[in-house]
Amino acid sequence: MTTVRPDVAVIGGSGLYALLDDVDEVSVQTPYGAPSDPITIGTVEGRAVAFLPRHGRDHRFPPHKIPYRANIWALRSLGVRQILAPCAVGGLRPELGPGTFVVPDQLVDRTSGRPQTFHDVGAVHVSFADPYCPTGRAAVLKTAAATDVAPVDGGTMVVVEGPRFSTRAESRWFTAQGWSVVNMTGHPEAVLARELAVCYTAVALVTDLDAGVDAGEEVTQEEVFRVFAENTDRMRTLILRTAAALPTERECACEHALDGINITFELP
Ligand code: ADE
Repeated sequence: MTTVRPDVAVIGGSGLYALLDDVDEVSVQTPYGAPSDPITIGTVEGRAVAFLPRHGRDHRFPPHKIPYRANIWALRSLGVRQILAPCAVGGLRPELGPGTFVVPDQLVDRTSGRPQTFHDVGAVHVSFADPYCPTGRAAVLKTAAATDVAPVDGGTMVVVEGPRFSTRAESRWFTAQGWSVVNMTGHPEAVLARELAVCYTAVALVTDLDAGVDAGEEVTQEEVFRVFAENTDRMRTLILRTAAALPTERECACEHALDGINITFELP
């Protein structure tokens, strides 16, 4: 097993099942079972970075079956304090078409029944008004300025339970709320990171216009995977450069998410 402790991790989504070459692989167990896959640890510009494919490298976990708690716990137990989370999303506005990158700043939870807390005992209520790390978001946007990716800065990601795509009525309703993109994995990943005082930044790639925006074709899995594959290199470059550029000392509020709260277990 590697002795290098990564402080940064990437949780890869659909189409991003490996990130780094020349890696050590670590199998981790947690109180919540095993994570989606062994975690690989490699080096990016001299910095140790962990990678975990959230669906498993063979995409065996659908969005509603991902072991979200084990994933976040395992990463933190390895030393991770900042997570970059690339994901595929549907666009809820015509201008957010396939190939657009979005760095969301808000989240709406429309999932149901997923375990979404580590704190099942006692009074532990973390603040989540701003679900994404401001430092991580700024790092993605700054890094992108030096690449061929021009992400949209901000927007609300609504997370649906899946695994089906939305109906046109649901999709039109999301748009009418002013939300920007829709996906199936952004919750509870972000809140679980916050509950362990880990920074979390979503980096969304639009793979389709959702059903309510595109009056023609329905969203299909084939389209989502094809568009993600076409943009994997851009996503990989953005994520790797951002991972290297993240500050080594944290100054954001994420680190203090549990300050003044009595939690009933030791942080991993
Ligand atoms: N992931 C990618 N596209 C999506 C969509 N339209 N709805 C939900 N999740 C998605």
